[in-house]
Amino acid sequence: MTSQATPVTVEEVAADVTHNLRRAVLRPGGGDVVWPGDDDPATFHLAARDAAGRVVGVVRFSPAPCPWRPEARAAWQLRGMATDPAVRGSGAGRALLAAGLAGVAARGGELVWCHARTTAAGFYEQAGFTVVTGEYDKPGIGPHVGMVEDLVPLTPR
Ligand SMILES: CC(C)(COP(=O)(O)OP(=O)(O)OC[C@H]1O[C@@H](n2cnc3c(N)ncnc32)[C@H](O)[C@@H]1OP(=O)(O)O)[C@@H](O)C(=O)NCCC(=O)NCCS
Repeated sequence: MTSQATPVTVEEVAADVTHNLRRAVLRPGGGDVVWPGDDDPATFHLAARDAAGRVVGVVRFSPAPCPWRPEARAAWQLRGMATDPAVRGSGAGRALLAAGLAGVAARGGELVWCHARTTAAGFYEQAGFTVVTGEYDKPGIGPHVGMVEDLVPLTPR
């Protein structure tokens, strides 16, 4: 099936803009949608909006050591990636991820990592991430794998 491309605009937003999609997509059975680090000054949140201005995708990036590459310089964690089921497969996730990786690189980040749901690992792989762990369970959420992507430094060291 070929999905229609949904044009989205991606912008930085306050954490609370992400809560509805986090709740609907990532915590449908309940659970916190306000997470430690959400309001840290270094954290940034992105939202993808459709032509009507509705938030159809969200993601967060924050500086954090990589559990599997603790020696890595300037590591950032990707968390809370979700798109509205109505727009899946139309490029909203890709647009968010690309903007996020560019935002991390612009802030001097050199590596992005995430606890990826196994069901989403293919999405991250097509954007350049690599699986670096075996499968592990996150209680109440399901099976995950660790994934990382090295970024090309924007400025010479
Ligand atoms: C994973 C998720 C964010 C992808 O968002 P999306 O808006 O569907 O992504 P896009 O439409 O931009 O897809 C980009 C590419 O990734 C592919 N893709 C999307 N989801 C995929 C998946 N789960 N597995 C493999 N490939 C996937 C698309 O087919 C597309 O590839 P193409 O260019 O070859 O067609 C979305 O499915 C989602 O919110 N899932 C539920 C929550 C979740 O699992 N979040 C991740 C938590 S770690």
